[in-house]
Amino acid sequence: MQQDMIVILDLGSTDNTGVARAVRDLGVYSEIYPHDISVDELRDLPNVKGIIVNGGPNHMVNGVKIDVDRAIYNMGLPVMCVDHEPSRGDIVLKEWPENESEAQNLLTEFVFAFCKAEANWNMKNFIADQIELVRRQVGDKKVLLALSGGVDSSVVAALLIKAIGKQLTCVHVNHGLMRKGESESVIEVFKNQMDANLIYVDATERFLGKLAGVADPESKRKIIGGEFIRVFEEEARKLDGIEFLGQGTIYPDIVESGTKTAKMVKSHHNVGGLPEDLQFQLVEPLKQLFKDEVRACGKELGLPDDMVYRQPFPGPGLGVRCLGAITRERLEAVRESDAILREEFANAGLDKKVWQYFTVVPDFKSVGVKDNARCFEYPVILRAVNTVDAMTASIETIDWPVLLKITDRILKEVKNVNRVCYDLSPKPCATIEWE
Ligand code: XMP
Repeated sequence: MQQDMIVILDLGSTDNTGVARAVRDLGVYSEIYPHDISVDELRDLPNVKGIIVNGGPNHMVNGVKIDVDRAIYNMGLPVMCVDHEPSRGDIVLKEWPENESEAQNLLTEFVFAFCKAEANWNMKNFIADQIELVRRQVGDKKVLLALSGGVDSSVVAALLIKAIGKQLTCVHVNHGLMRKGESESVIEVFKNQMDANLIYVDATERFLGKLAGVADPESKRKIIGGEFIRVFEEEARKLDGIEFLGQGTIYPDIVESGTKTAKMVKSHHNVGGLPEDLQFQLVEPLKQLFKDEVRACGKELGLPDDMVYRQPFPGPGLGVRCLGAITRERLEAVRESDAILREEFANAGLDKKVWQYFTVVPDFKSVGVKDNARCFEYPVILRAVNTVDAMTASIETIDWPVLLKITDRILKEVKNVNRVCYDLSPKPCATIEWE
């Protein structure tokens, strides 16, 4: 490994990732470890230049008092301690300064003056390191990757193609609930441009068949998730000699899934629940990166902007935006209206500003008038939200002319639609998706 590292020990602070981000912003690599890491484990980590013991109020986590091994202060490494109790350390703080530039100055002093770390954390070095590590891990064996076309799986694919070329097999399952042009762009970028081993499975009929008549949102989600795993498994069984599974796990997945001291936020499963007899070792080259670093890595690997800066898209795809029991005509209306919304948001520069935006088509009709005749057709609902963590969200205020243009185009270009509405609801009470 090329990079120097600052280790953050989680002593019950709520913002370990914020500190890790701030250190990485200085160009120095940083990782978070649980408070009860041993001195020996710390010594085994590569290139550690200093330690930040990041405490919360009285080191209490869920009512239990915790502490780091005090021998850590005598390891011979610089230690900065954010603490309420008498502590040792080269820099001791009661708490982080509220003022951001003061906090940044403190970190700069610690990282460079005390730890003498080198600012050598950058994507070029990261990619070079990961290519070497993947080659070492995989040898001459084969790796399988479920390539959805989302940011994380696309970046993993690009990195693995660079590292091991045709030893990687990507499987792209089109469940028929992708956005317009999405599967095509996966094929264009990975098969045509990067010359990857890409298996494209058009499972549209199979998914829509299983979903026919199913209106309950949770049942729809379960069918889509379960069927996805079955299709992927069938493809995997057709291949010989695969020993590894590539995964787009990223750093927040690991941190949020809970260290011993951090609270469990959510359990993550990217491919999730593969059958036990398909035993793979995991290859997770992005597991140290935050989301924006994953994007930077994708850019460095030459992926196109619309792939790297793609907005989040739920696993069940347009299936949760075609409300109730999915029909082909309403699914088409969601897909076409979504494409118009995306195009007009890009034209208005909103694609870089708004976190997530999409359309929804409900399973009821309303009366309208088209070509001087009564019509009875579906509405399209527009949704555009901003959020930091998707736990809460506020709606984006869109200028009227943009909304009117989108409305006009949808009414003219999308079949079976006679009305456009804008969803003004924040989360809570609403969720971001409608199902
Ligand atoms: P909600 O609707 O719960 O959505 O406010 C929060 C964020 O999560 C996305 N989402 C999903 N992402 N698989 C995913 O990968 C899913 O099943 C799923 N459901 C919702 C949603 O698009 C929003 O960004």
